[in-house]
Amino acid sequence: MDFKQKVVDLVSEQVDLPKEKISMLIERPKNPKMGDYAFPAFALAKIEHKNPALIAKDIAEKISDDNFTSIQAVGPYVNFAIDHAKLVNATLNDVLTEKEHFGDQKLGEGNVPIDMSSPNIAKPMSMGHLRSTVIGNSIAKTLEKVGYTPIKINYLGDYGTQFGKLITAYRLWGNEEDVKKDPITNLFHYYVKFHEEAEKDPKLEDEGRAAFKKLENGDEEEIKLWKWFREVSLQEFNRIYKELGVTFDSYNGEAFFNDKMQPVVDELREKGLLEESRGAQVVNLGEDENPALILKSDGSSLYMTRDLAAALYRKKEYDFVMSLYVAGGEQTGHFKQLKQVLKKMGYDWSDNIHHIPFGLITQGGKKLSTRKGNVVFLDQVLKDAVSLAEQQIEEKNPNLSNKKQVAHDVGVGAVVFHDLKNDRMDNFDFDLEEVVRFEGDTGPYVQYTNARAQSILRKANKEISMDNLSLNDDWSFAVAKALADFPAIVEKASEKFEPSIIAKYALDLSKKFNKYYANVRILDEDNQLNARLALVQATSIVLTEALRLLGVNAPKEM
Ligand code: ARG
Repeated sequence: MDFKQKVVDLVSEQVDLPKEKISMLIERPKNPKMGDYAFPAFALAKIEHKNPALIAKDIAEKISDDNFTSIQAVGPYVNFAIDHAKLVNATLNDVLTEKEHFGDQKLGEGNVPIDMSSPNIAKPMSMGHLRSTVIGNSIAKTLEKVGYTPIKINYLGDYGTQFGKLITAYRLWGNEEDVKKDPITNLFHYYVKFHEEAEKDPKLEDEGRAAFKKLENGDEEEIKLWKWFREVSLQEFNRIYKELGVTFDSYNGEAFFNDKMQPVVDELREKGLLEESRGAQVVNLGEDENPALILKSDGSSLYMTRDLAAALYRKKEYDFVMSLYVAGGEQTGHFKQLKQVLKKMGYDWSDNIHHIPFGLITQGGKKLSTRKGNVVFLDQVLKDAVSLAEQQIEEKNPNLSNKKQVAHDVGVGAVVFHDLKNDRMDNFDFDLEEVVRFEGDTGPYVQYTNARAQSILRKANKEISMDNLSLNDDWSFAVAKALADFPAIVEKASEKFEPSIIAKYALDLSKKFNKYYANVRILDEDNQLNARLALVQATSIVLTEALRLLGVNAPKEM
């Protein structure tokens, strides 16, 4: 049951305002002594030309409802105090009935392509790509819960001038055996060496450009190498995705659009948008904006050209209601241009394109750079996290069955949760020790809380009945109130494309539950045992679902 909606309904019977407006006005008093909801009467004072305190008093006197223990005017506010036992009862009933569907909503519908992860072939997947992967994955799950159909697209960076450089580097310093043994490490090594050597010998850049030109023209040797680099890289990426439990609906990367760019260039020209600037073809976007580069002076395509083709393709293929791009904040300018060019082409649906940026991960305060070889190897991070989890389990619960699986869920969960608990735009420093810390505000803490709830239920070993789920202590009220908030949390996270809202919520609910656990004797045989177990069960359902929305598993035992 939605107590806020109840307040809206009650107020709307007394005042001449639309329900949506009332709902927007309702506040949550900071001081719990003032009740759980407050309706400010100022909004009416202007209309009725009366003192807001008088209006509040008038409204309060006319309303009575037994879901609330008091409805009182305090100054210009009408304060509503929820009947705690009723809230606990109604909330537990809802969660236990709806189970993992608690919080499901219909906020919208239709296809939502989500461009996410999108690492670059022949380079290690960076922390930035990890962020894009886990943020995109969580947004997909959250949008699905509120009615949309997400389509997860891995727009692989599998094309571009860097492949000319890589081919050149491979021919100079590489060999097949090494690439087969450890593809990404070695390919990346050639690539880094290329940049080092090119600083000394600029002729290398020309060679790289020539190799790319050959690739573009379909030269057999170049194509063969490129395909091979792509294949072995993808195999390694897929290993990481498997660890993370992330799947994709499409792997149409940049190369997929090679034969779809000419029509876009033609269309731009027909619409009179293409202009020459220092030999290059550009779309001018106004005085204060940089022009969008469409073709280089040698006629080769650019990142923007491919993204234009991809955007048009996605509109045609999916007829989307929204189209999302989860990519680092440094690409904000690029996506702004992408939308502007589409708009100039006459496509108003460009308004439904959203870049979902995120902050930088630094190390020791410094930016990580793939080009300089200053990278963190993701699979190593995941491996280290899992072995740390294994150690903890050996110490705390050596007889646990299923140890390997649990260590995996906890280790990987730690990394994913660490990434999602901060506001997506926050920059944070990457410190492996910190990521795999199992105390404090971490994923393992939430997982552990859920496992604790499960262990209580195992110990009780009782069927929970749905009648009489009322509890009246403050600890259970705090938990139940948090549970009742879950649908609103899901709504907010989906509207803001912000997984951290769910992660912070999961931490908050865990803390409240652990306080409850510390203060209440749950398993005592009295007439409230059933209701207490219901609270434990409901907490586990919601924690598990919150973790699922973040892409983190919730082991039942750990
Ligand atoms: N491959 C790009 C990179 O690593 C990210 C691609 C983002 N998506 C897009 N449609 N441009 O920076």
